[in-house]
Amino acid sequence: MKTILVTGANGQLGHSLQRLSESLPAYQFLFTDIDTLDICDKESILAFAEGKNIHYIINCAAYTAVDKAEDDEIICMRINSEAVRNLGEAATTLGAKIIHISTDYVFDGTNSVPYLETDYTCPMSAYGRSKQTGELILRAVCPDAIIIRTAWLYSECGNNFLSTMLCLGKEKEELNVVFDQIGTPTYAGDLANAIISIIDSIEAGTFKSGIYHFSNEGVCSWYDFARKIFEIAGIKCRVIPIDAKDYPTRATRPQYSVLNKGKIKRTYGLAIPHWEESLRKMLKKTKK
Ligand SMILES: NC(=O)c1ccc[n+]([C@@H]2O[C@H](COP(=O)([O-])OP(=O)(O)OC[C@H]3O[C@@H](n4cnc5c(N)ncnc54)[C@H](OP(=O)(O)O)[C@@H]3O)[C@@H](O)[C@H]2O)c1
Repeated sequence: MKTILVTGANGQLGHSLQRLSESLPAYQFLFTDIDTLDICDKESILAFAEGKNIHYIINCAAYTAVDKAEDDEIICMRINSEAVRNLGEAATTLGAKIIHISTDYVFDGTNSVPYLETDYTCPMSAYGRSKQTGELILRAVCPDAIIIRTAWLYSECGNNFLSTMLCLGKEKEELNVVFDQIGTPTYAGDLANAIISIIDSIEAGTFKSGIYHFSNEGVCSWYDFARKIFEIAGIKCRVIPIDAKDYPTRATRPQYSVLNKGKIKRTYGLAIPHWEESLRKMLKKTKK
């Protein structure tokens, strides 16, 4: 039986992997978070791994407070880049394969067609810079790594755009939401499925390291996303489209960060659901 170490397992993606693991008896999962395995502590990673015969590391641990990072860049860098070096070096020492998650915020958002893995990265925020540095470090210390850039992640747990909209939509009659930032929401459960499909493929003999893009299919603005959330959840809250410049945030976000997913679909044979379909399914499940 192959053993998979998951770091940052109490976060959105980590939780989704925990749920998925219940239906995956072929793998043994070791779920850890900062209280059980602080990825900033290099020594403790190898100490934790000793004798556990770890085959895969899925790094879900990250500093994800995008606005706070502007005032906290050193800590953000430590978790999103220096600690990634620790994990990459540990993976090499252990002979394990590492799957690391990165972000659409490594791009500056000036494209008008979906970003390819080979497109120039030029982050606009401290968070984006820390994730870009994490990618570069990981590729240097562990050329066999798989790096998956994702975008606009949401799930049943934690704070995300969906949970904020569900909460505010019930309290307010109308809400201003930015309509000139374009991307694609990603249900963390779909990303968890994709990661496990990749591991299944590696077990079956298909392995190609490198950077991959993954989000749900389709494109929308935050405004479209909010309207769809209210429509599906049956919340009567009017959504007013506003310009990003009228909703100033500490960190600058890319105006356009749609990811081209052709490479991951071709290499690992993934079928990816449309964002509306995944949102509908998730909201239906959580209503029960
Ligand atoms: N959320 C998004 O919209 C989004 C978009 C694109 C890409 N991503 C990327 O996708 C990945 C998963 O994101 P997510 O939304 O699931 O993140 P998340 O919910 O913020 O979860 C991250 C987890 O990592 C933990 N953590 C922080 N520092 C740690 C450390 N030193 N050692 C071990 N664990 C630590 C956090 O604990 P605490 O909560 O206690 O800090 C948290 O449980 C991340 O790499 C993120 O950058 C996210």
